[in-house]
Amino acid sequence: MGKNKLKRFAENATFDHVFQPVQKELVEVDHEMKGKWHSFFKNDHPITLELGCGGGEYTVDLAKRYPERNYIGIDIKGARLWKGARIAYDEKLTNIAFIRTRIHNITSFFNQEDGIDELWITFPDPQPREGKSKKRLTSLALLEKYREFAHKNCIVHLKTDSRFLFDYTLHEVIKAEGLKLHTMSEDVYQDYNSGPLVEVQTFYEKIWLKDGLKIHYLQFTLFP
Ligand SMILES: C[S@@+](CC[C@H](N)C(=O)[O-])C[C@H]1O[C@@H](n2cnc3c(N)ncnc32)[C@H](O)[C@@H]1O
Repeated sequence: MGKNKLKRFAENATFDHVFQPVQKELVEVDHEMKGKWHSFFKNDHPITLELGCGGGEYTVDLAKRYPERNYIGIDIKGARLWKGARIAYDEKLTNIAFIRTRIHNITSFFNQEDGIDELWITFPDPQPREGKSKKRLTSLALLEKYREFAHKNCIVHLKTDSRFLFDYTLHEVIKAEGLKLHTMSEDVYQDYNSGPLVEVQTFYEKIWLKDGLKIHYLQFTLFP
């Protein structure tokens, strides 16, 4: 393992706002923060989750824009989420936390008490092979998990370069499930000129933009 990665892992371990449970703990019992995130943030503000957050660009930017909300970035890769965790630490942003875990364990971390009413899913791996469809972060299987803890009015934002994932989510999830589609865009930089959708660019988004790919967006309700 590279020195840089080890340094980031070590620093993550010192941050109070980074949670890194041991996988085995989650299989046996829920995480101790489940239902208690308001005590961590020391307020009862609503919470947004960024799923597959990588460096947490949306988590950090939205937390600065909307200090009256709390933000939690989740990713399995500790060296990636360290970037956002480090910025939150340096800039003393108190409405941010990160969790290093697999999204499949997400119900071990949250329940209805946590006030989660918004999910951002930013450039998730599209997982085009049928055998891996349950791994798509917008799959029905995972949406069912999100519904276990999210509020009835929860909004989902999907930002992706993948036409495959955009079409799958639109037709096989939103339409098939009777979810309400609030907004859709096949090319956000053509359709918008302000707001977080175009003012925040993630690490992967910058790569896809350099390659000339169009960025797609769907905003929909989690519940029918
Ligand atoms: C293509 S990257 C996008 C990262 C970031 N949102 C961005 O746009 O730069 C996908 C991210 O999702 C994470 N990821 C994929 N599947 C995951 C899962 N099941 N649980 C947690 N993280 C996952 C990966 O570790 C990776 O950081």
